[in-house]
Amino acid sequence: MEEMNTNMIIKEIEEFAKKSTKEFDSGHDWWHLQRVRNLALFLQQAENSGNRFIIELSALLHDIDDKKFRKHGSIGAETIIRELLHQNGVAEDIIKEVIQINKYISFSSDAKIEIRSPEFLIVQDADRLDAIGAIGIARAFNYGGFRNNWIYVPAEDGFGITPSTIGHFYDKLLLIRDMMNTATGRKMAEERHLFLEIFLEQFYKEWNIIPRNPLKGS
Ligand code: ADP
Ligand code: NI
Repeated sequence: MEEMNTNMIIKEIEEFAKKSTKEFDSGHDWWHLQRVRNLALFLQQAENSGNRFIIELSALLHDIDDKKFRKHGSIGAETIIRELLHQNGVAEDIIKEVIQINKYISFSSDAKIEIRSPEFLIVQDADRLDAIGAIGIARAFNYGGFRNNWIYVPAEDGFGITPSTIGHFYDKLLLIRDMMNTATGRKMAEERHLFLEIFLEQFYKEWNIIPRNPLKGS
């Protein structure tokens, strides 16, 4: 009976989450939520830590009212989540936890972390894993395109000042490996981090083609 009930709630929240991502870029779409949910549930099992129901709800709702896509006059994530979960009969202590995770999960709010619950640590790891590796690269260039940023700005043109997606690797993506919370997450981040390095190496190799073959003269 209890099991049945949580499944039904998850189904409802899933529908809500699907609708909520309609205006986001495709790196922040439903499939991001689906991947984060699957990664988080995988980490829960591997670490044998945290409550699966809270983790699943929090993964599905972690990007609600993301500041990058926030609509003018939004009532705010806390109210949205509270009303939604309340309507679905979720207990108050669980609602509080889901709200906290939504609030503190973001890379940029890391300094202000107030909670370190196992559920928080796992959902944050899952969200971070989806920002690195092949998927992370795809998402970064998709977001950069969405914002009309440069792909890359070479050093002499102000690399690090002008926003570029390659610049974002140094601002954020390459830092993620050392920020992981769980042992399983750290291990998975290792492989994905290596892939970022391989990608960058190949990228610079292709970018820095020498236009003339010096051995052949001009
Ligand atoms: P978080 O929600 O953890 O704070 P973000 O919302 O900043 O993370 O990032 C979500 C996704 O968007 C990530 O895949 C990230 O790499 C990408 N992204 C965010 N900012 C940029 C940027 N300036 N250039 C390219 N990709 C970006
Ligand atoms: Ni996310």
